[in-house]
Amino acid sequence: MSDTDRLTIRRPDDWHVHFRDGAMLDAVVPFTARQFGRAIVMPNLVPPVTTVAAAAEYRERIMAAVPDGVDFTPLMTAYLTDDTDPDELARGHADGVFTAVKLYPAGATTNSASGVTDLKHARPALARMQEIGMPLLVHGEVTDANVDVFDREAVFIDKVMTGLLADFPALKVVFEHVTTKDAVDFVAAHDGPIAATITAHHLVINRTDIFRGGIRPHLYCLPIAKREVHRQALRAAAASGGPKFFLGTDTAPHAVAAKETACGCAGIFSAPTALEAYVQVFDEMEALANFEAFASLNGPAFYGLPANEAQVTLERAPSEVPATVESADGETVQPFQAGETLPWRLA
Ligand code: NCD
Ligand code: ZN
Repeated sequence: MSDTDRLTIRRPDDWHVHFRDGAMLDAVVPFTARQFGRAIVMPNLVPPVTTVAAAAEYRERIMAAVPDGVDFTPLMTAYLTDDTDPDELARGHADGVFTAVKLYPAGATTNSASGVTDLKHARPALARMQEIGMPLLVHGEVTDANVDVFDREAVFIDKVMTGLLADFPALKVVFEHVTTKDAVDFVAAHDGPIAATITAHHLVINRTDIFRGGIRPHLYCLPIAKREVHRQALRAAAASGGPKFFLGTDTAPHAVAAKETACGCAGIFSAPTALEAYVQVFDEMEALANFEAFASLNGPAFYGLPANEAQVTLERAPSEVPATVESADGETVQPFQAGETLPWRLA
């Protein structure tokens, strides 16, 4: 095998995952733990994870689902609401339970009903986070029903993000799952401590793919995939290896029955072969040399954590994406690229 057929890098991390709970959690955690050393775990359970106690218990349930012998650390987040107590965040941060705080604008996406209705309510929490160096992870979409769904991220930059960064210039902010050239350019140009995660699916599909030959509910997520020009901007940002961009799959399992229905849920379950999908993109971009920065180094550097010591090897050899994943309580989930053969695999 030549140099470009094998790639050994520090073990990567996934800076944005949805594990859910119960039987679904048990079914999906092993996929993430197989590929990643750590993962930032989203708090949008029902009810949301808002207290240190709830996050600590949720972390225990996740750890119980990690297969024996697999080294995996879940990094927990707090769900920001209109009345989040800054002391609770600070206590969770000091105790090593809360790594970061997630901002969902109320109604923006799956299980976001308890999210923030107006950032002014969150000011005391944001001020404390800025003081103690606790990152804010932002779902960057406005929720105004009159704003076109494809414009909601770009409008969020002007309506919310710019003011947030001006008011809290030292707050660490991750613009999660960016989907537009607007967001990429904004993050790249901003001087303060802001970074962005990029999903595998937004590097692979554009909005036309959602309607290729018919409507494809398993490609529906939020933020929704955009035009090709935006996908190209995301690919260039990721492939640059630049320190402001890092891996976050936003893997978000929903039962097939909840996706293939008159009003299907948003979320793409990419966990089974996320790393393989990402490395394929870097290969196509002739940027394999930058894959370690994107997957394993930039995220920990931004969060102020050490990179993983362990290494993994990716090799150019076929990997099969499972057609379905079943949970013990009989739910079926369809992975991203289900049934396809990808050209890379985790050795
Ligand atoms: C996520 C989910 O299902 O929890 N859905 C999605 O489309 N990404 C929520 C989110 O991150 O927006
Ligand atoms: Zn998400």
